[in-house]
Amino acid sequence: MTSRLDGPLKVTGQAKYGADNNLPGMVYGYLVLSTTARGEIESMDVTAAKSAPGVLAVYTPFDKVDLTTPSSMLGETWVPLQNREVSYYGQPIGLVVADSFERARDAAALVETGYQEAPAKTSFEDGIAEAEVAPDREDLEILDPDAGLESIADAFEASPVVVDQTYATATQNHAAMEPHSAVAAWEGDELTLHTPNQGSHMVAADVATALGVDASQVRVVNPYVGGAFGGKGKTSTPAFLASAVSRALGRPVKVVLTREQVFTATAGRASTRQRVALGADREGRLIAVRHDSWCSTDAARSFVEPTSHGTSLEWYATPNLAVSQRIVPLNVPPTTFMRAPGEAPGSFALESAIDELAIELEMDPIELRKRNNSTAPPGKDLQWSSKHLDECFTVGSQRFGWANRSPQGRTEGDWQVGMGVAVAMFPALRSPATVGIELRADGTAVVSTSGADPGTGLLTVMSTIGAEALDLPEERITPQLGDSALPPGGLSGGSTATASVGTAIQLAGVAAVDELTALASGPGAPFEGKDVTYAHGELFADGETIAFGDLLRRLGRESVSVSGSSAPGEELTKHSFSSFGAQFVEVKVHRWTREIRVSRMLGVFDCGRIINDKLATSQLQGGMIWGLSAALHEAMEVEGSGRVANGDFASYLLPVNADIGEVGVEFVKYPDTLHNSVGAKGLGEIGTVGVAAAVANAVCNATGVRVRHIPITIENLLVD
Ligand code: MOS
Repeated sequence: MTSRLDGPLKVTGQAKYGADNNLPGMVYGYLVLSTTARGEIESMDVTAAKSAPGVLAVYTPFDKVDLTTPSSMLGETWVPLQNREVSYYGQPIGLVVADSFERARDAAALVETGYQEAPAKTSFEDGIAEAEVAPDREDLEILDPDAGLESIADAFEASPVVVDQTYATATQNHAAMEPHSAVAAWEGDELTLHTPNQGSHMVAADVATALGVDASQVRVVNPYVGGAFGGKGKTSTPAFLASAVSRALGRPVKVVLTREQVFTATAGRASTRQRVALGADREGRLIAVRHDSWCSTDAARSFVEPTSHGTSLEWYATPNLAVSQRIVPLNVPPTTFMRAPGEAPGSFALESAIDELAIELEMDPIELRKRNNSTAPPGKDLQWSSKHLDECFTVGSQRFGWANRSPQGRTEGDWQVGMGVAVAMFPALRSPATVGIELRADGTAVVSTSGADPGTGLLTVMSTIGAEALDLPEERITPQLGDSALPPGGLSGGSTATASVGTAIQLAGVAAVDELTALASGPGAPFEGKDVTYAHGELFADGETIAFGDLLRRLGRESVSVSGSSAPGEELTKHSFSSFGAQFVEVKVHRWTREIRVSRMLGVFDCGRIINDKLATSQLQGGMIWGLSAALHEAMEVEGSGRVANGDFASYLLPVNADIGEVGVEFVKYPDTLHNSVGAKGLGEIGTVGVAAAVANAVCNATGVRVRHIPITIENLLVD
């Protein structure tokens, strides 16, 4: 199996990340952030900053660079410094440019800002009273047409067993290892921008719009990304400011966020509150599901974390279902896509509630889930194209030793030991993608697309699928990514990249073979006028073969270029598509200190065809560790003032190696060619889904204490 192609470069420090680019004459920009949560900037005294050593310029809303707000498939992207309104603490309000990072930083501390302050709303709990209907997320109620019900309440009335509880999840930051940055340089009216992203052509389009130039004038080049998870989907403040200021100053500009700045000058995951009600008969068959969600958002209402619509609308067969989604606008840093937006926090609530129902019914929680397996999303006629969730549970139960679990947990010396499970689901999606293939006279092929590999392994996957499509050994394929000058690739987001780019590679492969056979049989070619076929890099006719490289040389061609494009289409009218998984967790809770250790995790996943077991396993292990982290560690703490109190890696808790026990990953491998010709359903996000619930369910099994919020802390288990 192919190892990650960029692995050696990354672990030896040779991979050049965005901020590793240094250019002659380059200067450094340092952000100034607001120190109030809401108000209008009345004044910014930049005199001291401007006369500090090495300072070239200071930009503020009073002395700004002009930027226009761009809009893309990810929505409108806020651009900095365009007005004096402050809507959260830590909002970018200025940029100091100097001849070194340190001088820019020191001068930024000298900027004096005066505000006309206004009352700020920073508490999610308080804000819920003034929640608003979420845009584009309609309240839905599906009622069994044969039951003569007036409303979902009737369905609960008619349910012999009802569980109705409220759950909460915390605000998180993506906490990618690589902070957001940008290095911008103009040559004439052409901009080259190095900035970490999840799709270089999308950033190029955003920046071009913001600067009022043609998209062809902006080239975003960034082959290596140190983690993104949704947090680099939208174009960043450094990218906009470095580009604009570089144009204004006529020299290269680098802007790098500090770790603390990443916590507020980018966006994170919303807090949520979710009320889940489940009604069932005594055999555990669901009669009614109700899921009402609230999520925090910024004052601009820029993002909805769709927990109800991401989970209850899809997961279980139920004749009666009601979902609603509300938003709670606050003066807090913006929210955005984060690994499994909707499903990650949504599954905590739904899968905790299912566990509570199992306890109420005195039923095995896996059995309860199997009894309510959906063959199609409730209220939809389109069956799942493939669903092997039951097999995930069977395989997982066996390997994890689920049969040894007792409903009361067990003890091992001073440790209370418990096991929990949860379902994981994430929709199988595709995005439009174009891939170019260049066949070269040296017998190699370049497979290229503009998208990004933020650590997912896409580069390596492109090499494998490219080799298949061209029937060549992988050593002869050179994959290229992360340059907006390449054919417009998909977004590395929504777990779509393999299915999207992979399908486009296959189509480009067909085009490449067509082109080669046409060339081989064309006028003056070795097989002129003959029927030519292609296999393993060679063209064949009349019992003779010629390697494609030799053919190109004979024809005096250095290379031949073709492309293939794919987009979601007709399949969407025929089936519903999703990846599935079963998450198993074992926890140990110390009898006296209440310390919680996750001793074992196992995820068994149905993600369609697995292109590369090693990379897929690593991706899913990472996702599962994310889930553990959400369950036990992560929470951005916002003070009443709106200041993020723990915006650094000393106090924003993330798991370290010692927090992680055994993390097993298995696949049930059923290629799903109803979704796309590659057969891959996507696995970037599903790894994290369900884990937090499985941890909470295991904690309950170990201790008898049901904690309905994450992160779960020691204090939550200090009960008699
Ligand atoms: Mo992501 S949240 O799939 O960028």
